[in-house]
Amino acid sequence: MTIVSPVLIVGAASDIGRAIAAEYAKAGASLILAARDVRRLEDDAKDLYYRYKAEAQLVECDILDAAQREALVGNMTEVPGTVISVVGLLGDETIAWSSPAAANQIMQVNYVAPSLLLGAFANRMAKMPGACIIGISSVAGDRGRKKNYTYGSAKAGFTAFLSGLRNRFGSSELHVLTVKPGFAATRMTQGMALPSFLTASPEQVARAILEAHRRRKNVVYVLGVWRWIMLIIRAIPEQTFKSMDI
Ligand SMILES: NC(=O)c1ccc[n+]([C@@H]2O[C@H](COP(=O)([O-])OP(=O)(O)OC[C@H]3O[C@@H](n4cnc5c(N)ncnc54)[C@H](OP(=O)(O)O)[C@@H]3O)[C@@H](O)[C@H]2O)c1
Repeated sequence: MTIVSPVLIVGAASDIGRAIAAEYAKAGASLILAARDVRRLEDDAKDLYYRYKAEAQLVECDILDAAQREALVGNMTEVPGTVISVVGLLGDETIAWSSPAAANQIMQVNYVAPSLLLGAFANRMAKMPGACIIGISSVAGDRGRKKNYTYGSAKAGFTAFLSGLRNRFGSSELHVLTVKPGFAATRMTQGMALPSFLTASPEQVARAILEAHRRRKNVVYVLGVWRWIMLIIRAIPEQTFKSMDI
């Protein structure tokens, strides 16, 4: 299917957001890049125009601020044809165990705020031919693990929200795509020892998203091997799983 512009990327200053912007610009889309500090994106916008002749409008938005979220949805002069939520926060799991504020922030950034934002955009985009909403969730949401269950549970909520949204609009024009990157080599995972065969580059994530968008896929695991890994992990009985160090 064709990509409907403008393409709004929320969390556009992330490594994956930047790679998505380049991939969609290359494909001929015009862009709206939303981030907490858009000054960080001024050079990117110039570069996207220089390399691909892609127009990129910059919009400041802290997704945790309800007024800024509502302004992002309500103040758009042109309703986006595609909205991609890239925002996320891994946070520190052990701090989250004893700090409700830290746990709440992880839950708000990964689940509550992007769900409210995408739900509001879905209402505006419902009747637009070829419209698409894309949410970056995580394989961490496929099963709760002791090492990252605060983040994982928030991503699980986000995955379920996207699934419900997709089904609500199942017989209309609006398509909803859920993205599960597996490991990706970004600022979020800097310093972690990630196995290379399980780790995608931001550019691989971006290419997989564009391809899945074009093919109207419902869910995409960026590296296909993750689908099988998670199938196995989900099949492990809870009694065994709780004694495993994964
Ligand atoms: N890296 C991985 O292995 C991996 C695996 C699975 C899923 N993911 C998901 O992929 C997405 C992109 O992550 P990444 O790896 O590229 O890491 P990243 O660079 O840390 O990206 C996270 C982005 O979320 C934005 N953000 C956080 N809180 C926000 C808020 N209150 N308002 C607006 N934006 C906010 C950050 O904004 P600032 O730029 O202003 O800090 C940043 O741009 C996330 O949803 C992440 O959960 C990543």
